[in-house]
Amino acid sequence: MSTDFKSLQIENRVFPPSAEFQAKARISSMDEYKKLHAESINSPDTFWAREASELTWQKRWDKVLDWQPPFAKWFVGAKVNVSENCVDRHLTTHRKEKVAILWEGEPGDTRTLTYAQLHVEVCKFANVLKAQGIKSGDRVLIYMPMVPEAAIAMLACSRIGAVHSVVFGGFSAESIKDRLHDSGAIAIVTADGGWRRGKIVPLKPHVDTALSSGESNVKKVIVLKRTGQEIAMQAGRDTWWHDEVAKVDANCPAEGFDAEHPLYILYTSGSTGKPKGILHTSGGYLVGTYCTSKYVFDLRDDDVYWCTADVGWVTGHSYIVYGPLANGATALMYEGAPDTPHFGRFWEIIQKHKVTILYTAPTAIRAFIKWGDEHPNKYDLSTLRLLGSVGEPINPEAWMWYHTVIGGGRCPIVDTWWQTETGSIMITPLPGVTPTKPGTATLPFFGVDAAILDEDGNEVGPNEGGKLVIRKPWPSMLRTIYGDAERYQQTYWSTYKNIYLAGDSSRRDEDGYFWILGRIDDVLNVSGHRLGTAEVESALVSHPAVAEAAAVGRPDEIKGQAVVVFVTVKAGVQPSDALAAELKKHVGNVIGAIARPDDVRFTAALPKTRSGKIMRRLLKEVVAGGVVKGDTTTLEDFSVVAALQASGKDDE
Ligand code: WT7
Repeated sequence: MSTDFKSLQIENRVFPPSAEFQAKARISSMDEYKKLHAESINSPDTFWAREASELTWQKRWDKVLDWQPPFAKWFVGAKVNVSENCVDRHLTTHRKEKVAILWEGEPGDTRTLTYAQLHVEVCKFANVLKAQGIKSGDRVLIYMPMVPEAAIAMLACSRIGAVHSVVFGGFSAESIKDRLHDSGAIAIVTADGGWRRGKIVPLKPHVDTALSSGESNVKKVIVLKRTGQEIAMQAGRDTWWHDEVAKVDANCPAEGFDAEHPLYILYTSGSTGKPKGILHTSGGYLVGTYCTSKYVFDLRDDDVYWCTADVGWVTGHSYIVYGPLANGATALMYEGAPDTPHFGRFWEIIQKHKVTILYTAPTAIRAFIKWGDEHPNKYDLSTLRLLGSVGEPINPEAWMWYHTVIGGGRCPIVDTWWQTETGSIMITPLPGVTPTKPGTATLPFFGVDAAILDEDGNEVGPNEGGKLVIRKPWPSMLRTIYGDAERYQQTYWSTYKNIYLAGDSSRRDEDGYFWILGRIDDVLNVSGHRLGTAEVESALVSHPAVAEAAAVGRPDEIKGQAVVVFVTVKAGVQPSDALAAELKKHVGNVIGAIARPDDVRFTAALPKTRSGKIMRRLLKEVVAGGVVKGDTTTLEDFSVVAALQASGKDDE
């Protein structure tokens, strides 16, 4: 894709923070931000040592950073326990009896866990893991609904040095299997099911299917009872969470691990069919999520903070569990859907629990707009003081609606740009400082040396598009792709020497604000989640009727991008609406509902370059409305493309 265009979208509205918000904020002037940012770039050791000193280290570091590009070690020589920082650290303070996790189930059941109670639960479950033979460095796959035990399981892993890999509960058995294989996990923590849209989403049955081929290293499956329906339990392998917890005590000292000890692997889509296992380690990730949570959400002791993400995504890791808990915040967790049992569910929760900070995604905001203002307008949202957005560019209309209808015009909006790979927020307003403009994530956070480069590696001028890069290492950066250092180097560090390539295109306006324009690779953003076109394609060709497939994104009012697939069928197969429906279902089964194509279009042949590459740009243009769409069974006619091929123009 070409990135050397001038963006025509210029947004002129500017919203400075209110004097009231600014007066109370931790950082309250642009001068202060600039000074701290300059220090964080010019003397990163000083800046990060100061931030890290606010946390608990069992042994202090000898050196803040050891950078052997592209491999970084942060807080070299230090010993740290992440769960101790998220839990134990608060027990000697006034936060001991403060609510750590405030949970609401979809059926309306609620639970609160104070820091003292969370400590007991984390210690007990850590002892359960130990009793099951799990040791430091072992990988544990977590496949859970949005219940407190998901966070407890993550923290328990970190307490004993086990490496968790959370798999989003919406992913399929096949996805679990791939991740088990890649991570070599020896245990799974799951639940019978979870509640979503008034129905039970089965989880344990998917685990059973994933394990049925017998190829994994999994010895133990620990099952939480959440929904209570009948499930199969395999003797010797499967055991109930409550039975195991009843056998252990609550004494589990927090052992110190090397700051670079792996904390978790989280899989994310890339440009091949195989998701990448992003590896995050302990000390730097803890410091990064702690520091960003503190400054970006300007956390105060009386906040009720709600991040609506699922723990299966990085946002849930960094901004439901690690960052907020390291700050001793009260984090709200909600199990279910925003439209169950009614369209006002989120606003009802905000009113009921007096939520002060809401962090959600543009795709959700666009759905709320569609459902109508009457739903939020029924509830008291006056406790809200700060709003956040993450996952994809927020369109100015959605931003304005969020600002006025939800924020009552008084709440700053932090539009936070970051990635699974970056571990924590990278480009964002500071709520007491940065004048915001609808649609831009504004300025780099501390320690982030962001820039936009052209093909030759030169910085582009104002409002010119280019590739978004980060020129210096930062504490919460990924350390590698699990088991594939070569792919790590290739994907992120080979386009420009020793510079991190984010995979997004962007422009900076005259104020230096970053406007994210979209991905530069074959990765779609569906409802704020990454999806590789190659993953969808390989799922399709695994169906016996499919010869070849190409997946592309189509702009979608709610989801950001919808998945459209072009399919050629094998000889003797007749394209039909029934087959289209079957293929949609098939992709849903192979990857998960999120990947289910919105549209299946059969074609006699896919347009290709002379070297045989599928011309995705052309397909994108076709789905964006360039060609009138017939019914799903109509064969697309790409004969026009033959001219392009004949002229020898190797597009793309
Ligand atoms: C990609 C990362 C970060 C947690 C959720 C997604 C897009 C993310 C923004 C934003 C514009 C954004 C980028 C990025 N993205 N936040 N505020 N404005 N685009 O994590 O699945 O790793 O996806 O999401 O394209 O590269 P992820």
